[in-house]
Amino acid sequence: MSNSTIVNKLAREELVDMIPYESARRLHAGNGEFNNKIWLNANEASGLGSYSLSADCVNRYPDFQPDSLINAYSTYSQQPAENILATRGADEGIELIIRTFCKAYEDNILICPPTYGMYAISAENHGAGIVKVPLQSETGINELDLEGLKSQVGNVNVVFLCSPGNPTGNLLPQAQIKEALALFKDTAMVVVDEAYIEFCSDKTVASWISDFDNLIVLRTLSKAFALAGLRCGFTLANREVIQMLSKVIAPYPISAPVAELASKALGEQHLPVMTSRVSVTNTLGEKLSSWLSQQTWCEQVFPTHANFVLFRTPYKDFIFNSLLEKNILIRDQSKQPQLANCLRISIGSEEELSTLKDVIENAFSTSNTLSE
Ligand SMILES: Cc1ncc(COP(=O)(O)O)c(C=O)c1O
Repeated sequence: MSNSTIVNKLAREELVDMIPYESARRLHAGNGEFNNKIWLNANEASGLGSYSLSADCVNRYPDFQPDSLINAYSTYSQQPAENILATRGADEGIELIIRTFCKAYEDNILICPPTYGMYAISAENHGAGIVKVPLQSETGINELDLEGLKSQVGNVNVVFLCSPGNPTGNLLPQAQIKEALALFKDTAMVVVDEAYIEFCSDKTVASWISDFDNLIVLRTLSKAFALAGLRCGFTLANREVIQMLSKVIAPYPISAPVAELASKALGEQHLPVMTSRVSVTNTLGEKLSSWLSQQTWCEQVFPTHANFVLFRTPYKDFIFNSLLEKNILIRDQSKQPQLANCLRISIGSEEELSTLKDVIENAFSTSNTLSE
């Protein structure tokens, strides 16, 4: 007999009907076999690095925050080690921040949609309320509604800003981020999610940490470092914040093989590989954006500062399905506010993008869709 009755009775009520985050991998499982499709739906990097693992100490629990890893990230990010917390991806950072700064069923987070979905999912999971102050659209969905933010001072405990933004690819103006930090100076932590910052590294706000006690910066090795499968991210903030988050995180958050491999990726030998990947990706992104903007079926291409391009087209289902038929996965973003008819393409390899373009061109030329 199924025991779903007891499960539904005992589980927190709001979880029973909650829809979990539809991650790219939950929508389309890789099943350990990633060569059978072209994966352009999760903003991963297409190429592998080459690493060796010693697995010397796997019989021991790892250090809480392994020195080699924290020191390597400290050198890379130019933040003191005490300002860094390594986590199971930036996603764990998001969850920890909400659990640390929001009382369940009492406090709220603030998000600026369209934005990354995990802020809301983590808040829901924890029982925190979600206040939405949408990005403004007249200028291309890249500006904060500062008046809207001001009206929420005192009502929210954590503000999530995503810059470069997923799924838009836009950067928020730095002056506006600074205004938001000042507005919430005494009442809320302001999180600047910099998951994609390597693609425009001069735009980081990490150096402001010494000026703002309420600033938290999120980083990850999943994007520019091509290590999404490793699950390693970093939370940067003043020591007091890091110490508070350290009370909430699991006792051994970073497994020994993760620490070993991530430290290597951040070392002198591998960093140039990351920087050259970024420059190749940026060039391919420019080419893809310019190709898209020349297509008659493409209505709008969003300027990007990340490893993906968002565009709007009245033919979004046709394009999505034509690609899917040929085992090419991109991401439909049309359910997000202000993003009707928008699709997002991760910038894969030159070869993958060239196959994608061929498939789209071929689909239009062999159907009457455009002339309908
Ligand atoms: C804006 C943003 N933040 C955080 C993450 C999560 O990164 P991680 O893989 O480190 O959990 C993503 C992943 O897509 C993202 O787009």
